[in-house]
Amino acid sequence: MKKFLNIAIDGPAGAGKSTIAKAVAKELGILYLDTGAMYRALALKAIREGIDPNDRDRVIPLLERTEIFAKNIDGVQHTYLDEEDVSGLIRTNEISKGASDISAIPAVRIKLAQYQRDIAHASDVVMDGREIGSYVIPECEHKFYVTASVDERARRRLKELRERGQDMNKSVEEMAAEIAQRDHNDSTREFAPLKRVPDAILVDTTDLTIEEAVAAVMNGISREER
Ligand code: DC
Repeated sequence: MKKFLNIAIDGPAGAGKSTIAKAVAKELGILYLDTGAMYRALALKAIREGIDPNDRDRVIPLLERTEIFAKNIDGVQHTYLDEEDVSGLIRTNEISKGASDISAIPAVRIKLAQYQRDIAHASDVVMDGREIGSYVIPECEHKFYVTASVDERARRRLKELRERGQDMNKSVEEMAAEIAQRDHNDSTREFAPLKRVPDAILVDTTDLTIEEAVAAVMNGISREER
């Protein structure tokens, strides 16, 4: 089997993973896959159908009649739920919470991880997620764990939401509490939780600029492979 360049960027919400992963993929001229978008798309379908994303008995049959896939169009990921491009609908706070809940269901993760694994086995790709290096492609040679303090992540997340006109009245403290809750959910679920594996290089972005964080990742990838 041909070996492709696979780069796993894991870490908690709001640490800057997607910004870094996109920049690294661009610099290397390879594909970027936002795996969280797939959990978000499924959460959207559940919420639309009035299904609680925590309700395993109802989510599993839903999963069986759902097709989720990602397509790269001019360097931008479009996420499809069945035949619908839902990329613009999955960035709300309600969907963030729903995605975190739905991702705790093992059957959900098994199906989406298999799709992601197939992409990694067929192309050079930078993937960001929670368990890419520990579960999706554990054999991957380039693993990074990107994190930042909860307060800094809350500030960044709030800025991003406000730029889209959402959550205008939420305080940093409230946002920090939501983020801490999501970290807790993502890292304590029983199946493939968020965790730093020993072979992942730690990148703490609390006091780093985006350029510095990207450089930290690029430095971890040997020149011969670029
Ligand atoms: O990265 P994000 O915020 O878009 O992810 C949304 C949720 O999806 C996150 O709270 C946990 C889940 N997720 C996951 O379990 N595994 C991934 N590889 C990506 C996301």
